Amino acid sequence: MFQSRIAPPAKTDWRAYLVTERWARYTLQDHATWDRLFERQLRAYRHDFVAPFLRGIVRLDLQRPGIPRLDTLSDRLEAQTGWRLVPVAGIVPDAAFFSMLADRRFPIGNFIRDGRQLDYLEEPDCFHDIFGHVPLLSHAPMAQAMQAMGHLGLAACAAGRGEEMSRLYWHTVEFGLAREDGALKLWGAGLASSFAEARHALEAALPRPRFALGAALATPYRSDRFQPLYFVSDSVEDSCARIAELTLEALASLGEGEAPGYAREDERMAQI
Ligand SMILES: [Fe+2]
Repeated sequence: MFQSRIAPPAKTDWRAYLVTERWARYTLQDHATWDRLFERQLRAYRHDFVAPFLRGIVRLDLQRPGIPRLDTLSDRLEAQTGWRLVPVAGIVPDAAFFSMLADRRFPIGNFIRDGRQLDYLEEPDCFHDIFGHVPLLSHAPMAQAMQAMGHLGLAACAAGRGEEMSRLYWHTVEFGLAREDGALKLWGAGLASSFAEARHALEAALPRPRFALGAALATPYRSDRFQPLYFVSDSVEDSCARIAELTLEALASLGEGEAPGYAREDERMAQI
C-alpha cells in the first residue's frame, strides 16, 4: 500500500484482486530499469537503511539482477517469516489490502515504471513494492506488526476509523525514519525506494518528531508531495511492538487527540 485514499470496506476476499504476474512479459528494458533503480538506491543509501532492511536484501537474495519472480521470492520469504507476495494490477481497496496483510500476503504491482522517467511514479510499481517493502517482511518484528496492522485495519475500516489507520501506516511503514546507534536511518518503503525523498527525509530542514502513537494517529499526511515531517522511531523493533499491541479502542481514542503543533498543516503549508 502506498495509498492514502480511504475507502469503505469493500470486498474483503482479497483473492478477487489478484492478477497474473506475467513475468515473461517484462522486456529487457524493464529489467534494465529495475537494475538501474536497484543499483542507484544501494549506491546512494547503503549506509542509511536500517540494518534489518539490508539484512533482508541479502537473506532474500534480492541483489540478483533483473525483476524477481514472485514465486521464487515468496518461497524464500515464506521460509523466513511465513509471508508470501501476490500480484495485483495496482492499488487495491483498503479492506482487501488489510485482508491480505491479515493473511500474511503482500500485494505487488505487476508492472514497472517507464525507464525514461525513473523518478515518476503514478502509483506504486514492482520496484516500490518489492525493493521498498519486501526486505523488512523478512524481519520477524516487522512481519508480526504488518499482520497485526491487517487485523486492526479491517476493524478500523469497519468502525469508520480508516483515516487513523492510514496515518499510522503512512508514518511508519511508508515514511518512517528510525534511529540506530544514534543515527537517523531510512525505515519506510516510500523512503527506501525513492531516490529523491530519501535525501529529503534525511537532510531537509523540517520537523522530525520522536514517534509516538498518539502523535502519529493525529497527524495528517500528504500523498501528493514529499511529507512535511517525518516521525523518528526509537527503533524499528520498538515501533513494531507498539503497533502489534494496538487495539481498535486505543486507535480510536488516540486518533481523537489534537494534532501536535508541529503537524499543523495550515502553518506548515504557509511556510512553503
Ligand atoms: Fe508502499
